[in-house]
Amino acid sequence: MQRRHFLSTLAALGLSTQAGAVPGGQRPPLRLAMIGTGMRGQVLLKELLRRPDVEVVALCDIEPLMLRKALTQCEKAGRAAPQVFGEDGDVQAYQRLLALKGLDGVVIATPWEWHAPMAIAAMQAGVPVGCEVVAGISLQDHWDVLETQLRTRTPYMLLENVCFRRDVMAVLQMVRAGLFGELVHLQGGYQHDLRAVKFNSGDPARPYGGGVEFGAKGWSEARWRTQHAVRRNGELYPSHGIGPCAMFANIHRGNRFTHLNSFASKARGLHDYVSRKMKAPAEHPSRQVQFQLGDVVTTTLACENGETILLQHDTSLPRPYSLGFRVQGTEGLWMDVNHSIHLEGRSPAHQWEDFQAYQDRYDHPLWKRYAAEAEGAGHGGMDFFVIHAFVEALKAQAPMPIDIYDAVAWSAITPLSEMSIAQGFRTLEFPDFTKGLWKSRQPLFALGDA
Ligand SMILES: NC(=O)c1ccc[n+]([C@@H]2O[C@H](COP(=O)([O-])OP(=O)(O)OC[C@H]3O[C@@H](n4cnc5c(N)ncnc54)[C@H](O)[C@@H]3O)[C@@H](O)[C@H]2O)c1
Repeated sequence: MQRRHFLSTLAALGLSTQAGAVPGGQRPPLRLAMIGTGMRGQVLLKELLRRPDVEVVALCDIEPLMLRKALTQCEKAGRAAPQVFGEDGDVQAYQRLLALKGLDGVVIATPWEWHAPMAIAAMQAGVPVGCEVVAGISLQDHWDVLETQLRTRTPYMLLENVCFRRDVMAVLQMVRAGLFGELVHLQGGYQHDLRAVKFNSGDPARPYGGGVEFGAKGWSEARWRTQHAVRRNGELYPSHGIGPCAMFANIHRGNRFTHLNSFASKARGLHDYVSRKMKAPAEHPSRQVQFQLGDVVTTTLACENGETILLQHDTSLPRPYSLGFRVQGTEGLWMDVNHSIHLEGRSPAHQWEDFQAYQDRYDHPLWKRYAAEAEGAGHGGMDFFVIHAFVEALKAQAPMPIDIYDAVAWSAITPLSEMSIAQGFRTLEFPDFTKGLWKSRQPLFALGDA
């Protein structure tokens, strides 16, 4: 019974334990398209191109250089040249791509503001969506994406890769096995010094750092992401932190977010970077900008079952990368920043143990099975798994492992946190996007007998 449950869970996750299950088989390859072939799109394209069960048939980007790079990737992989859209700079070119006959899915890796309109158009055209994080900008965007998915029933997956991180999946197994006891508190976040992502010289050969330009003069994310820090103040990138925490806490599968509030610190980091560290001349436009985004934004969520979840967005100050996970229950806790764990009765009293022995013991079977395939994939291998999960779910016509309810609730943290901050850090009620379905939905990530 347990094994059956495990296997059906894997099918729902789009992950198979069968020998040789990395793609192949009898069915014709999936015909996939991609909108947005920038820095992220190219990483995801690499994952798609090495799969024999996928044919990349169309690409769309409004930046000819990014399109060319993606086409070169296809050529080097020995694949037929996909149809291209958008080289004329038409921001609506994706509509023509979506009108192609016989598409089995589309991967969207464009700037955030395009995710909702592109995903909605794809679902309306009956083309299943794998969407990069986030799902939308405004709260209404999230309702619109949800409404379109529910109405059209076109599959939609948020491509949240951190859920597939090796230690995160091992900890999930440990949570399911009850090693932490009853969960009480979780933490995560996006703590990543993005100053050299938010500013560059505009030179495509050097997309990170080397200048203080952003907006029209910037390149890649400096062209669009920095604008969000100019005019918005909130938890702008919640899914890398909340995705794993939501999995651990069974959100939408017996639990849900009930309340949220956010606090934002002052904004100093970006101005300091441009003026003092990069020594931009006093008259440079980037020095005149009043950034709205607090350097450290701290968001707390309350859950129906009594857990609290704390998220931190920290992208404008010097710091080493860390998502800052903490999983704490009645029997102990794990923290990723110091790679350590303490379980009462197992660990020496009041002392940390190194997590490695637990990582080895609770390593997820899928990581064991596919470690070689994941080798060399983006972000320590997890990009292999997120694409794998999307593709396998499409092939099996199984539910998406990170589905529409997860997508909109995780991503709606952003507009809600902006509202909370704008209203003096007020605590807000979290909308129930599932309209009560969370009570009866079963955990997808129940890996307890693995
Ligand atoms: N999951 C992860 O680990 C991860 C990592 C990096 C980026 N991302 C996400 O991926 C997305 C893309 O980020 P990126 O780093 O590739 O940015 P990027 O700026 O390098 O690429 C975005 C591309 O979208 C294209 N584009 C913009 N508007 C378009 C339109 N209307 N039609 C077609 N193409 C259009 C741009 O020309 C650009 O090439 C963002 O949502 C980002 O948050 C996720």
